[in-house]
Amino acid sequence: MSGNITFTMIKPQAMRNGAGGAILKMIQDGGFEIIALKLKRLSKNAAEEFYGIHKGKPFYDKLVDFMTSGPIIAAILKKSNAVEDYRRLLGTTDPETAEEGTIRKAFATDMTMNAAHGSDSDENALIEAKFHFTEEEIFD
Ligand code: CMP
Repeated sequence: MSGNITFTMIKPQAMRNGAGGAILKMIQDGGFEIIALKLKRLSKNAAEEFYGIHKGKPFYDKLVDFMTSGPIIAAILKKSNAVEDYRRLLGTTDPETAEEGTIRKAFATDMTMNAAHGSDSDENALIEAKFHFTEEEIFD
């Protein structure tokens, strides 16, 4: 795995709304290969560690509560230019400004409940992928 992967989580609100399958289809239709996939629930510790960079920000506690409120789908996606291309498919963090055709335009309800996460750099994609998956769970 190198600069051609990104990591995503389909968030609890999108899962509750039954959008998990539709989001996975948008990902595959967007040309991404799913090389690792699991349905899981984040523990409080895991959510706090995953979003540790946001600790202290006004939305942090709400984000951790939300991300532990139900199952998520975690996945590693492979494609050339994966990080940038997936962020384009996701749309902006705020669904109000997300473009038509993006995952967040279709399924996000607000800044926190914004349907899905995407890594922000190649370096973080690797860190996040390894946070959620063992080597045996990755089909690269
Ligand atoms: P995500 O891509 O998972 O990465 C960090 C998350 O923090 C982001 O999506 C949002 O869910 C959340 N977030 C970022 N900025 C804000 C904000 N200003 N208000 C509420 N939630 C935010």
